[in-house]
Amino acid sequence: MLDKKYALITGASRGIGAATARIFAKKGANLILVARNKEALQKIQDELSLLTQVHIYACDLQKSTEIKKLFGFIRTHTKELDILIHAAGMMYSAMQMMSREQIIKELFDTNFISAYELSRYASKMMLRQKSGSIVFISSIMALEGAKAHSAYSASKSALKGLMHSLAKEYAPHIRINCVAPGVVQTDMIASLSKEEKERIIAATPLARFAMPEEVAQTLLFLSSDMSSFITSQTIRVDGGLCSF
Ligand SMILES: NC(=O)c1ccc[n+]([C@@H]2O[C@H](COP(=O)([O-])OP(=O)(O)OC[C@H]3O[C@@H](n4cnc5c(N)ncnc54)[C@H](OP(=O)(O)O)[C@@H]3O)[C@@H](O)[C@H]2O)c1
Repeated sequence: MLDKKYALITGASRGIGAATARIFAKKGANLILVARNKEALQKIQDELSLLTQVHIYACDLQKSTEIKKLFGFIRTHTKELDILIHAAGMMYSAMQMMSREQIIKELFDTNFISAYELSRYASKMMLRQKSGSIVFISSIMALEGAKAHSAYSASKSALKGLMHSLAKEYAPHIRINCVAPGVVQTDMIASLSKEEKERIIAATPLARFAMPEEVAQTLLFLSSDMSSFITSQTIRVDGGLCSF
């Protein structure tokens, strides 16, 4: 399905990014995996190298200079890029009155500025090939908002605006979409209390959290030719959850 395609996956050390790397490897993609934790990336490289070509690059995506160096690495090692999945992200939970400016800046650097810079460099390579697919991981909080998550929701809404604009700017060569998960069973939700988890599950028609693989399957669909006429869209993977 992704035979010999080159896929850059950020946030690949765990959670949704790691699940995506495993599924893409089985579907024949060559991988460039990015996160800060080099050891975790090496473990995934060891696991998937039996199936496909796996390059790893440890860097902090909060820093634009590191993103520039990452693309120097990609141009040297693969020369091609067909898919960008930007799964790296951070969560910040705080009521507005309690929120700290420094963390909000880090949040926007991680969730939004990195997406802007990654898609800028990736698009340059994809435009040369006249094809490519970019998928950002947004959140249903971007669409619905959520108490105590104003900055996180705003950083994910910014991705939606970026996605719609770039889909127009780079058409017809590059397709750009978002996936908006509800709550996914990863480290990111470790800080949710038992009561919060029960409340969210009760408000979810499918009555559970998503598994990271279920988000990864949607990313596979949006990255492959199965979605060849889909661009500028957000697909919710939320089990029907309408509101936090
Ligand atoms: N879990 C959910 O319920 C949920 C719901 C909606 C949307 N999302 C979104 O889905 C995406 C993936 O989340 P997840 O649930 O898989 O979270 P996770 O398990 O916490 O994984 C986050 C990933 O992002 C990487 N990362 C974080 N900051 C980074 C930085 N500055 N530079 C490079 N890599 C960085 C982490 O790797 P290192 O720590 O090794 O750097 C890790 O691989 C995020 O964008 C998140 O906002 C998650």
